[in-house]
Amino acid sequence: MSRVVARGPGRVNLIGEHTDYNDGLALPFAIDRGVTVTAEPLPGDRIEARALDLGEEDAFALGEIGASEGWRAFVRGTVAELQAAGHAVRPCRITIEGDLPHGSGLSSSAALEAALCLALIEDDDVDRVELAKLCSRVENDHVGARTGLLDQLAVLCGKEGHALRIDFRPPGFAPRANTRKGTWPPGPAFPSIEPVPLELGDWRLVTLDSGASHEHAGGGYNERRAECAAACEALGIESLREATSADGLPAPLDRRVRHVLTENARVDAMAAALAAHDLERAGELLRGSHASLRDDYEASVPEVERTVEALERAGAAGARMVGGGFGGSVLALFPPGATPPEGAVSVAPGPAAGRL
Ligand code: GLA
Repeated sequence: MSRVVARGPGRVNLIGEHTDYNDGLALPFAIDRGVTVTAEPLPGDRIEARALDLGEEDAFALGEIGASEGWRAFVRGTVAELQAAGHAVRPCRITIEGDLPHGSGLSSSAALEAALCLALIEDDDVDRVELAKLCSRVENDHVGARTGLLDQLAVLCGKEGHALRIDFRPPGFAPRANTRKGTWPPGPAFPSIEPVPLELGDWRLVTLDSGASHEHAGGGYNERRAECAAACEALGIESLREATSADGLPAPLDRRVRHVLTENARVDAMAAALAAHDLERAGELLRGSHASLRDDYEASVPEVERTVEALERAGAAGARMVGGGFGGSVLALFPPGATPPEGAVSVAPGPAAGRL
């Protein structure tokens, strides 16, 4: 093994929020901000890791990985999952750096997992969907965040200039990552991924950090996921993809299901709006998604609401929270001539994770 440098991008989800773990639809893309991991061979049998931005370190033996928390859990979890999948991980010094703030809702977690995997595996010519599933197991089983597969697929399978229309339960496939069961197992079950050109002309997408940091491993995210599972239980179905209506469910489960159903419909409406170059309609769908996440999914916080208002005051055609919610960044679509507020950063679909 020689020195390897790998980069994992962050992601923005154009629309389709909290649908991945409900076997639904989403439309994310990889962005040009991300996390870089450098792996340099070391003698002995240890991994030494440094998070440059945090000024923190970790070290463990490859034969005795052990559990940890925060960024260390990502490193240890990735090494453990790579080993479990049959990859020979060599002793090395890992250096982590990046320009994607943790907790900003742009998926610094998946960026880190992908960059770690690609820096640590011997041969990077691997099945990207399988690698995404492996990264998802890191998050669920080692970090404690019961997240879906959206971020990892966007980061590992993204395509420059395109968003990805992901169907987490394509026709003909039995539910495998359904609401009640959790993570995707290795093997043949796979989501379908279709690149959708993101041609915005003179319009542009920006993100603006709300300043409220979020953590998936605690708080609202895991609670919402449990509520979706409870709704499935009440409806007698395996996955909310099978639900056709929220009628008859007790509150707040009815609202949660209504969000998932309407959000899936908005994903296809967005793909149609993009194909028709109807960006006014795209803005309207972003506004609809945000209202649903705020009112039905109850995943907003005051800082996010203030950020949405600031973007709309500046002339955004639509703005909505991105990612797990309860903080993080807001995405907004601006027509030509409008000036986004200070702090807003342009985002465009960049390449997937890879070695540099
Ligand atoms: C986080 C999770 C994803 C997805 C989104 C919400 O980003 O990591 O799996 O559930 O929230 O759409």
